[in-house]
Amino acid sequence: MIIVIDGPAGAGKSTTAKAVAKKLGIQYLDSGALYRALTVIYLESGKDADSFFKKLKDKDITFKYTDEQFRVWLNEKDITDKLRSSNVADEVSTVASLLKSRERVNELMREAVEHDTYIAEGRDLGTAVFPDADLKFFMKADVNERARRRYEELLEAGEETSLKKVKQNILERDYKDSQRKTDPLKQADDAIIVDTTNLDFEQQVAQICSDITDKL
Ligand code: C5P
Repeated sequence: MIIVIDGPAGAGKSTTAKAVAKKLGIQYLDSGALYRALTVIYLESGKDADSFFKKLKDKDITFKYTDEQFRVWLNEKDITDKLRSSNVADEVSTVASLLKSRERVNELMREAVEHDTYIAEGRDLGTAVFPDADLKFFMKADVNERARRRYEELLEAGEETSLKKVKQNILERDYKDSQRKTDPLKQADDAIIVDTTNLDFEQQVAQICSDITDKL
């Protein structure tokens, strides 16, 4: 069984999906973290597309949700701590717009969900990656609220930044993610819309869990 949550940056997909996974005892998959891992490879390649594509073929990419953290390894080296850095955030939408990046991430995700029940989050999961998902949610929230949440997250992680910079990055990513040719950020016609701007978190998790258990 596969349940997907799509939506723009900072809409609350990760925190919600993790809480749902914990409550229902199912697996969690963060597709954004996989695009971020590819961005680490892209930065290591000096932002050169050919060198990036070559490295992409050679790298073994593995991931696991453990101790409430989605961890990613490149050739067995844990790169989780690099995924949320500003360097990566600034380039990830560019990397995610490349067809070869999307093919690699989609292949990794489809392989993973074959053997277990997953809740996965991203931008194009309900429309492109898992169009036959058992249940689809689309999460959205006011951009100021999304920026505030992401800013607090970064501060907690010890990243030096400003609210203005975070909002700017979110707006740029939203634009690039929704305008790109291949599999843009888009709400699936059959997705349940959840606006989290003023939602109580516990209520929101309970509602999604109840929608899922109704389906089981
Ligand atoms: O979810 P997160 O903010 O970590 O995603 C980082 C970036 O990865 C997004 O801004 C988007 O460019 C890309 N992404 C994507 N498709 C997905 C998930 C993420 O293009 N399914």
